[in-house]
Parts: sequence; C-alpha cells; structure tokens
Amino acid sequence: MNPKRRPIIAGNWKMNKTTVEACELVRKIAYAVINTKDRDVVVAPPFTAIPGIIDVIRDTNIGLAAQNMHWEDKGAFTGEISAEMLLDLGCKYVIIGHSERRQYFGETDGTVNKKIRQALNKGLLPIVCVGELLSEREAGKANEVIERQVMGAFKGVTAAEMQKIVIAYEPVWAIGTGKTATPDQANEIHAFIRGKVKAAYNADVAEGLRIQYGGSVTPDNVSQLMAKPDIDGALVGGASLKPESFAALVNFK
Ligand code: 13P
Repeated sequence: MNPKRRPIIAGNWKMNKTTVEACELVRKIAYAVINTKDRDVVVAPPFTAIPGIIDVIRDTNIGLAAQNMHWEDKGAFTGEISAEMLLDLGCKYVIIGHSERRQYFGETDGTVNKKIRQALNKGLLPIVCVGELLSEREAGKANEVIERQVMGAFKGVTAAEMQKIVIAYEPVWAIGTGKTATPDQANEIHAFIRGKVKAAYNADVAEGLRIQYGGSVTPDNVSQLMAKPDIDGALVGGASLKPESFAALVNFK
C-alpha cells in the first residue's frame, strides 16, 4: 500500500446470490463498513440482483460494479448487456477480462480492449483483470503473459483514461484454490505491471494506478498483502460472499 493511492476492496460475487440473498448480504456489509471512509468499497453482484441492491446501497459508501459488459452500444447480441444498461442501473464500475471469462467464454486481449474502450467512452470505470495460468508460471512465462495482457488491454487508451482504470492481478492458479500468491510474489508482478505502464505512459500515470490482488484473499492474509508497496487493494471472490468476512477484509489494518 502506498499512502498516495486510495485502497480499493471489491467483492466479485460471480454467479451467486438471488436478489433476496444479495440484498441481505449487502445490507449487512453496508452496516459493517458504515464508518469506513479511507478506502473504496465495491460489490459486483450478478446482473439480476443489481436493481434490488441499488436501493439498499443508496446513501452508503459502497460502489456498484457489474461483472461483464458488451463492447457495442446496442443491437442483435442475444444475452449481452451494454454499458448504457449498466449505467441505467446505477453501476459505477465494470469488471473486464476476468480469467473465468477468458477461460470459459472465449474472451481475448482483443475483446477485453474493445470492452475497456467502450466502458471508458460511456463513463464506466473498468476493473481490468490479468493473470497467468499455473502452467505459464511454471514455465517461467508469468511476466511475458502479464505484459501481453496489459499491453493488449490498453491499446488506444490515453493517459487521461488510464487514470480511471483499476487493474486486478489475479493469478489463475490462486483463484478459488486457497493457494494465495505470497505477498512477495504478488508485489513482484504488481511492480512489473506498474513499470510497463510507466514505460507506455508516464510516471504520474503509473504512480496513480491502483492495482488490486485477487486469488484466495481472506481476512487472514489481506493485511500482509496490503502491506506491500505496490498492492493497492483486493478483488475477492469466495470471502466476499459472507458479510463478516467481507467486512473484515474491507476493514483490514
Ligand atoms: P477467490 O477469492 O474465490 O479466490 O476468487 C478470486 C476472484 O476470482 C475474484 O475476481
């Protein structure tokens, strides 16, 4: 954590929670983080729960994210959701390029780039996920993969736009496995990403960029991760589905 950057803790609920369950969860979270003012708190529920949740989080310090969106304005894209629809529901952020979307739904650096540009054009703040597979790490290719994903994602994105972006480094081998990257492993990649952004843009953009870590983050390991200079937040899956554990994560010391 660097005092110049405001920490951002986000819960990615993935394909979990009906509207009733989601509202109950977010109500408890809102209560638990009511006095948390020095960090950003974000929840990313499934699309279907967003209309219910928006009423619960009105006048709280919780920001709303969607988990995905399409890059076109509108049209014949059955099953897809546009940026305008997300804004209409009150979303502020959108997660783009999560590894589950890349692995199971055919997302590529190219589609991730189109989505980021559309989100920025429409006024949504992208949370852009990158991360290597276990086989890539074992082959010594983690940096190469991350560099390709980062450079591919931000093609055509201006320095001013970069200031609206959050990157989430989520090593695929750490997601849902209980196998967290060590704080040093995570920080090394975060510093690598910041270096690439500095080279592609400038020092101000790189220093202002918030980079979250994601992959088996829990209340037990969040403080050690956040103690590292290039780790500015967490993108949390499993541990964000229970109000006590998400609140404990948000209120890390
Ligand atoms: P887990 O916290 O369940 O490992 O999931 C991380 C993740 O994919 C968040 O986007």
